[in-house]
Amino acid sequence: MRLTGGVFSVALSVLNVAAAWNVTAEYAITPSSDGRFLRDANGLPFFWQADTAWLLFHRLNYTEAETYLSDRASKGFTVVLAVGFTQEGITSPNRNGDLPFVGKDVRQPNEPYWAYVDSIVELAKDKGIRICMVPAWGQYVHDSANNPGVLTASTAPTFGHFIGQRYPYLPKTLVADTNPWWENKTAVKADYTAGGVPPAYNVVDWSPVYDALASGIIAGERDAIANSTTWSPLLTIHPTNQWFSGGPLALASAFLGDRSWLTLDACQSGHADFPPNPPIPWWNARRGWEPVEQMYAAGAHDGTHARPVLDNEPHYENRYSNGNSAHPWWNASDVRTGSWQAVFSGAAGLTYGANAVMQFSITGLYASDGTGPGDYWLADLTLSGSDQMQWVQKAIRDRGDATYFQRVPAQDIIMGDAGVDDKRVTATRDSAGSWVMVYTPTGEPFAIDTTSLASCDDIQASWFDPLDGTYKTFEFVCHGVSEAVVTFTPPVEDGHVDWTLVLELSTSL
Ligand SMILES: *[C@@H]1O[C@H](CO)[C@@H](O)[C@H](O)[C@H]1NC(C)=O
Ligand SMILES: *[C@@H]1O[C@H](CO)[C@@H](O)[C@H](O)[C@H]1NC(C)=O
Ligand SMILES: *[C@@H]1O[C@H](CO)[C@@H](O)[C@H](O)[C@H]1NC(C)=O
Ligand SMILES: *[C@@H]1O[C@H](CO)[C@@H](O)[C@H](O)[C@H]1NC(C)=O
Ligand SMILES: *[C@@H]1O[C@H](CO)[C@@H](O)[C@H](O)[C@H]1NC(C)=O
Repeated sequence: MRLTGGVFSVALSVLNVAAAWNVTAEYAITPSSDGRFLRDANGLPFFWQADTAWLLFHRLNYTEAETYLSDRASKGFTVVLAVGFTQEGITSPNRNGDLPFVGKDVRQPNEPYWAYVDSIVELAKDKGIRICMVPAWGQYVHDSANNPGVLTASTAPTFGHFIGQRYPYLPKTLVADTNPWWENKTAVKADYTAGGVPPAYNVVDWSPVYDALASGIIAGERDAIANSTTWSPLLTIHPTNQWFSGGPLALASAFLGDRSWLTLDACQSGHADFPPNPPIPWWNARRGWEPVEQMYAAGAHDGTHARPVLDNEPHYENRYSNGNSAHPWWNASDVRTGSWQAVFSGAAGLTYGANAVMQFSITGLYASDGTGPGDYWLADLTLSGSDQMQWVQKAIRDRGDATYFQRVPAQDIIMGDAGVDDKRVTATRDSAGSWVMVYTPTGEPFAIDTTSLASCDDIQASWFDPLDGTYKTFEFVCHGVSEAVVTFTPPVEDGHVDWTLVLELSTSL
């Protein structure tokens, strides 16, 4: 007996030494008071500059995760999207050889697997990056052919509670690449490929599983946060692209807008643009600003449901259009345009992805899925788009904390034809009138109405370069209301045609 007791206490103290890092309240980011933006635990602006790293916990060892996170931190990323129970399958071990669960039971987490996740969450935080936890991939709710998976309304609360209690305060994105309104995608895809229009298949409403997962997470977080009865995490679902006709648009709020647990709105504008696009004939990923506008408008129509909005999966840099090597791949310019347009249309930030990075393909260990020209994550890590995303954040943050929460989309100040799809000129402004910004993807002259500026005196005008974050100031004489509509001609420079116009009252500088 004595001997057993001794061994037991030694084991306990070893456990204590290795005790998981506990996520603290400073980690939290929450919606701003009007629900449009994000703020940190001190109430200060938080700009969501996310990178996509779905398989981070599964495929990278600690040294590589350090390399990855250091690179993203140096480029201003504030969030990294990573999956707990990954796409790889319940019988697929992580890089260390550990499975996510004991006995293929989602109610029995395998401690070493999640202890490693803890270590990466902590490492990210040390570098100033928050993990947006994706507890499980969508296939565990249902597969493409609409068969149920291991996460059900009865198992999801237990798994959710585990995730919430272990990772309180982390923003969370439920069950990536799924919809609560789901048809047989396998059959629909086959119909399109054969050139036909799919018949109406049975629709299954999977939202009871999402509700169960969400309530498990919230209960777990409240248990972890002593005495909290009110804490609500930043929580959304990550819908697929606009897959099915006849149902709601694939926006988190279109499916689940009446849920109090849905505190962040999200869509996936996706990777396919060619017309006619066989899997999704009516959608074009070159207009990611459109679902952003729709989500923003959904909030405006009902003040109680205003939520920060994000395009959670725009086209990844170095991914072929529709992931198909018969088509060109998305480049840095495509990625810049989508991000600027989404943010100016009202998004609380942006999401970036590099195709070999999001899946962490490693030569000889994890083969690329073939959806892009790159087959090694370290090569795709340095794609130029990843460096350029920070300049979107800079342009917004440079306008100052005092106006951060007053920003509004301002498409109405563009006079004449703003352009369509990814040629559209997009504007945003301070609702109190201290500045306006206009992004042009084309370099062509455009006209705007400047009367939203609160004063005509001492306006500082500049062109902000989306490639390096520098300003070129130029002379601008404001003549007041009589000449309210002004045409601006962007600079001509080798290498790119996109520019951001900034007009700002000097008094606010
Ligand atoms: C984390 O919290 C648990 C439970 O409260 C505690 O046992 C453990 O010592 C804490 N770990 C650290 C590193 O503070
Ligand atoms: C991680 O993998 C790299 C090879 O990609 C190797 O050089 C390194 O030693 C490994 N680190 C750990 C901690 O296993
Ligand atoms: C979905 O469609 C596929 C292909 O037509 C078929 O094999 C499968 O049985 C269907 N699944 C369901 C749940 O009906
Ligand atoms: C929880 O509430 C009790 C009673 O009000 C209080 O004594 C205790 O300090 C609280 N704990 C925390 C961690 O806030
Ligand atoms: C990027 O791709 C677009 C098409 O999406 C093309 O028009 C443009 O020329 C490409 N830019 C570069 C630098 O290759």
